[in-house]
Amino acid sequence: MKEKIKELDELFDKQSANVSSDDEIENLRLDFVGKKGKITALMADFRNVPNEQKKEVGILINNLKNKVENTISALKESAKEKAIEKQIANDKKFDFTLPVDTKTGSLHPRTILQKTIVDEFVSMGFVIEDGNEIETEYNNFTSVNVPESHPARDMQDTFWLSNGEVLKTQTSAAQNRILRTYGPVCRVLFPGRCFRNESLDSTHENTFFQIEGVVVDENVSVANLIYFMKEMLKGVFKKDINVRLRPGFFPFTEPSFELDATCPLCGGRGCNSCSKTGWLELCPCGMIHPNVLKEAGIDPDKYNGFAFGLGFDRLVMMKTGLDDIRYLNSGNIKLLGQYGTKM
Ligand code: DAH
Repeated sequence: MKEKIKELDELFDKQSANVSSDDEIENLRLDFVGKKGKITALMADFRNVPNEQKKEVGILINNLKNKVENTISALKESAKEKAIEKQIANDKKFDFTLPVDTKTGSLHPRTILQKTIVDEFVSMGFVIEDGNEIETEYNNFTSVNVPESHPARDMQDTFWLSNGEVLKTQTSAAQNRILRTYGPVCRVLFPGRCFRNESLDSTHENTFFQIEGVVVDENVSVANLIYFMKEMLKGVFKKDINVRLRPGFFPFTEPSFELDATCPLCGGRGCNSCSKTGWLELCPCGMIHPNVLKEAGIDPDKYNGFAFGLGFDRLVMMKTGLDDIRYLNSGNIKLLGQYGTKM
């Protein structure tokens, strides 16, 4: 019996080194520890082992069975990982060599994705609004609870105009006007171009896009916020995406959060797109600060709401596989034209 166990052990080592597909691994499992497997048969034979050897042989069989089961699980796990890596490698990445018809022009990838997101929110009862690109200091900062001398005014590296107005640093600049226009009980989405005096690199642009949303009603909760964000992500990535909230700080929301989404490429297991963390920082958000509601003439004792400011360019990069934000403003038709009219 001991001889047989040793033989089986060696046979398993040999065979397990040569399997890679799910089917091969499963067949190996069945062959050794399945109902009619070799080790199962050995265990059935155990009763014929002389009593004085039972203890030693029992331990040997058990050890072998455990080894086989652990190896099979590890093989299955690694096959799963390899399949995900393969899928990521096959996922749409930007191909600089594809020919593009530069005569007819095409929609910008931002335009295409914005339409998808807008359609999602419209289907959830949102009205779509626009914002100005030049804003008063009041709209950009004061009306959304950023007092004078608040560090946020510096943090956002504002482009000031000589008349004291600013190039909008955030889509939140339109919040006050929108809340005044629509009043309480509203759902509004307002995409827009924003500007900050940033040093440019592959993840920073001085001209970038955000998509902001506000919902005001009675008894709005954080759960509602999570629901809307998950629905939007499902529309964009055509599958369920999980989200998590981390604490954040913004003067216009209390409490404030950073919303992360599980990486749509690897499903949260960790890949190059998400720096192996499994999560993508997607969107600052929170429950609208009572001061912001009050400033817009809405009674914060009766109504509340949430707001979010989606870093839209990051999402476009994720969707297109472009790895440098500067491509988005490059005006390079050969590059940006690759996405045609849908992504
Ligand atoms: N306006 C913020 C920024 O650009 C983003 C933001 C944070 C918008 C929280 C929001 C919000 O609506 O609730 O940094």
